[in-house]
Amino acid sequence: MPNYTFVLNGSPVTVDAPPDMPMLWVLRDILGVTGPKYGCGVGVCRACTSHLNGAAFNPCVTPVADCAGQRVTTIEGLANGETLHPVQQAWLEEDVAACGFCQAGQIMAAAALLATKPNPTDDDIDTIDNVCRCGTYHRIRKAIKHAAVQDTPAR
Ligand code: FES
Ligand code: FES
Repeated sequence: MPNYTFVLNGSPVTVDAPPDMPMLWVLRDILGVTGPKYGCGVGVCRACTSHLNGAAFNPCVTPVADCAGQRVTTIEGLANGETLHPVQQAWLEEDVAACGFCQAGQIMAAAALLATKPNPTDDDIDTIDNVCRCGTYHRIRKAIKHAAVQDTPAR
């Protein structure tokens, strides 16, 4: 099988995988990076949301070959060392999570939004279509607005 090298959470990694293997399997099953969750596997629920070169993407529908030479960030790589990303901090302060299953994807989607729209409107926030079966949408919106007043770093 071919080798693919990419930067994962700041460090280069090389994996041996079929070119069409979804990145979610590469992350979870080959590399043991389990922050991105498997919900639907078809790009709908967004539980797997991570960043590709700083933009939100869904690794369940992105082949590993498309990530070669790119920069992939998962929830594990969002904080800056011991310092949480402002979105993570806001999530804690607003006590957003319920069961938690969707939350890594929600946080990564919010961080990607704030990187391009530091002061998002409700309509901007509505462009995030990550599913939460626990219905935490109200707290997610509040936490995004909370994080927006912090100094959100571009990624
Ligand atoms: S697992 Fe549902 S969008 Fe990736
Ligand atoms: S917190 Fe349970 S699915 Fe979102």
